[in-house]
Amino acid sequence: EKVDLKLEEIEKSGYDHFMLKEIFQQDESIYEAMRGRINAAEGWVTVGGMQDHYNRIANAERFIIVACGTSWHAGMIAEYIFEELARIPVEVEYASEFRYRNPIIGPKDVVIALSQSGETADTLSALELAKEKGALIYGIVNNVGSSIARFTDCGSYIHAGPEIGVASTKAFTSQLVVLTLMALDLAHKRGTITKSHFQKLISEFELIPQKVKSVLSQAENIKSIASEIKSASNALYLGRGYNFPIALEGALKLKEISYIHAEGYPAAEMKHGPIALIDMYMPVIVIATNKNAYEKIFSNVQEVKARKGIVIAIVSEGDTEIKKIADFTIEIPHTEDVFSPLLSSIPLQLLAYYIAVMRGCNVDQPRNLAKSVTVE
Ligand code: G6P
Repeated sequence: EKVDLKLEEIEKSGYDHFMLKEIFQQDESIYEAMRGRINAAEGWVTVGGMQDHYNRIANAERFIIVACGTSWHAGMIAEYIFEELARIPVEVEYASEFRYRNPIIGPKDVVIALSQSGETADTLSALELAKEKGALIYGIVNNVGSSIARFTDCGSYIHAGPEIGVASTKAFTSQLVVLTLMALDLAHKRGTITKSHFQKLISEFELIPQKVKSVLSQAENIKSIASEIKSASNALYLGRGYNFPIALEGALKLKEISYIHAEGYPAAEMKHGPIALIDMYMPVIVIATNKNAYEKIFSNVQEVKARKGIVIAIVSEGDTEIKKIADFTIEIPHTEDVFSPLLSSIPLQLLAYYIAVMRGCNVDQPRNLAKSVTVE
């Protein structure tokens, strides 16, 4: 056992936990997911996994994304990205629900499975059903040679490297990279975005690993915010557009590893329920980096402050307005709205991590949870 422990220390490369190591690897893991698939200087994006069935994918009537847990959140963001850039209708389903509700699906549909482990039983069963009905099955998987990878007709590996922490972090951002590259590839070839817009987007996309590094450099600030809210019993996460699923994911991370009850909501839905919960004990984490909806998010923050909620805002560098009224802010670099989840998810991973450590929780192996859920 002594030898095993030592080995584990080596594998953690100086980090206290695998989760922290994996969060800090994301500048590299995101780069690995891009490598060989994008070249802004030459002006192209190609996702190799789509090539054998390109026409069927590019002319699909619908993409249906099936996944569970954190992977399902990546799917929700992908819905926004595919529809915005490639103009292909997308549905996102919990694999378990999809499988048991007699879904309408046929040969013109492409079913995309998202799974870090490639072993999630519900996701695999959903694919079996979709294959029976004649859909093309595309897998976006981390574990090479896993059951889902073997079952699919085609797909892409995310190349995130082994993820040991039960709560998924780097696999999530790598899934987003691959999904975004697919959307850019399809958008370019289908002509749903202009050449200059495409060029602008891919030039910005290549800068993301650098920008992730700069987000990670704020760990100390995030740790000090964590110490301010670590005793909360509840937390609310709000975001709009591409950052709405990030609110869900931020809340899930906190629940999984710190056991604090947390909920994610689209910011505008706050008034239809969660606003009733806000008082001076409620931390409200607001993702406010959207260029598109800044004014609206600003007024959501005002509503929270009017009820004495504790606002932790993730804002873009140089923000002045929200900074003035929020209790705490985390600044992240500017980017295109469609890429912003790759940056905004990281402070939320760190926040959950530090809170869980401060509460004495076992962050790498939270109670009752498993890394691969191979039962339905
Ligand atoms: C479990 C893990 C989560 C993961 C989910 C889906 O619940 O604890 O971190 O997001 O399964 O797993 P998958 O391997 O299919 O992405």
